[in-house]
Amino acid sequence: MSSTVLVVDFGAQYAQLIARRVREAHVFSEIVPASISAEEVRRRAPGAIILSGGPKSVYEIPAPSLDPGIYELGIPILGICYGAQLMAQQLGGVVTSTGAGEYGRTTLTRTGASALLADVPDSSDSWMSHGDAITQVPEGFVATASTPLAPIAAMEDNDRRFFAVQYHPEVAHCEFGQDIIENFLHHMAALPASWTNTNIIDDQVAIIREKVGAERVLCALSGGVDSAVAAAMVTRAIGKQLTCVFVDTGLMRANEGEQIEQTFVKQFGVELIHVKAQDRFFDALAGVTDPERKRKIIGELFIREFEAVARELGAGGEGPRFLVQGTLYPDVIESGSGHAANIKSHHNVGGLPEDLSFELIEPLRTLFKDEVRKVGEELGLPSEIVWRQPFPGPGLGVRIIGEVTRERAEILRAADYVVVDEIRKAGLYRELWQSFAVLPAVRTVGVMGDGRTYAYPIIIRAVTSDDAMTADWARLPYDVIESISNRLIREVPGVNRVALDVTSKPPGTIEWE
Ligand code: XMP
Repeated sequence: MSSTVLVVDFGAQYAQLIARRVREAHVFSEIVPASISAEEVRRRAPGAIILSGGPKSVYEIPAPSLDPGIYELGIPILGICYGAQLMAQQLGGVVTSTGAGEYGRTTLTRTGASALLADVPDSSDSWMSHGDAITQVPEGFVATASTPLAPIAAMEDNDRRFFAVQYHPEVAHCEFGQDIIENFLHHMAALPASWTNTNIIDDQVAIIREKVGAERVLCALSGGVDSAVAAAMVTRAIGKQLTCVFVDTGLMRANEGEQIEQTFVKQFGVELIHVKAQDRFFDALAGVTDPERKRKIIGELFIREFEAVARELGAGGEGPRFLVQGTLYPDVIESGSGHAANIKSHHNVGGLPEDLSFELIEPLRTLFKDEVRKVGEELGLPSEIVWRQPFPGPGLGVRIIGEVTRERAEILRAADYVVVDEIRKAGLYRELWQSFAVLPAVRTVGVMGDGRTYAYPIIIRAVTSDDAMTADWARLPYDVIESISNRLIREVPGVNRVALDVTSKPPGTIEWE
């Protein structure tokens, strides 16, 4: 038996949240599709299984089901919401479509002795989202809690180590939610809390050493969190066998190049090839205003620059055989197959030419973003890099609306620095998903001192989000907006007006292009 927990995904976003909560309890978890067979589960021998919630009703046809053989394997199972109902139905209980659902905060009342709810008081706040309800427990089970509209809000069969809760313990608003998950993992399933940042690093270091041997490894650093943490992990494993490449496109944020040099060369002693390609990027972008063309030009040129370095180093022959990628777990899950082989097209090094055949090293492919940040800190990366907000591959190029010129890039870089600096000073940087400046290539009239000005406006874009799929415009305090505005006009030559973007996603996207 391994100490991994399999989280069976019945749809929506619930499975990812559950997987993260399990990891917060220091137990490794993996998300698997509902179609997983009992044979496959037996082969993987997980320490426990959690059945996630989902948007369907067990009465819908086709409602996602579970191979009943999984209940015969002797593995502890926790069913949550849809997973609880499915467990009830498959094991011989009754689920009723009551016509009245419960959504949001709901009082949970204990109705009987329970191992799972041992530390939950008689009455507590749970978080509900259900239409159907379990009305009769399967044989061998006892009901242990109820809510006003769910007569059986929790049930368990201690002998078989099957537990089920109608509510959502993974949701932050659910009182004692994490306690229940931890109780299930550590006591019902007897899994140790042994999955820690130190172990993650030790495991990956061992895997990388084993895979790479004495060969050389190449890594493209972008200034972003993922590539930096991946590179730091590989450095920990094989040190001087790693060569990093940083292509400065002229479209990076302020100080990004210096930060990378400082960290990777001075602190880690890594060989870094700093390609100063600004002129070639600005030349290629001259006269181009169409957003898609800009993206394409930047992406292709990036590849060409990277390829030139790789060939110079003799990639494929005597040179590096391995390439480091900062692929994260959500990319792996999205690709469905469990293999993120086709890297998202907007990732910088996505379309490397086939004749540069690298083997990939992806030390972060089992991790969520917040875990990557913690691992990064543990690896000794500075917090400025580890906590950096996401930044698009094409960089400032998609935040200059209209033609990208060197002058506009300089103005936007300076403006972006001011926005971020004020957001940091206000203590909001980590709370916001992204906060940055946008420069539309139009000029407006203003007046400064005694003179008329004719210069660019800057748009402040700040959003909150969990995953960038949806986002809300951030309600920045007026005094923060005021200091950003004052500083932009005072400190950034070429800017005479400041506006605020108050568009959510949808209908807007986070970036302007
Ligand atoms: P949008 O603008 O589509 O962006 O709401 C969603 C998230 O993706 C980032 N983004 C990109 N990242 N290459 C990237 O690596 C790209 O071409 C790209 N375009 C957008 C964006 O910053 C946001 O976090």
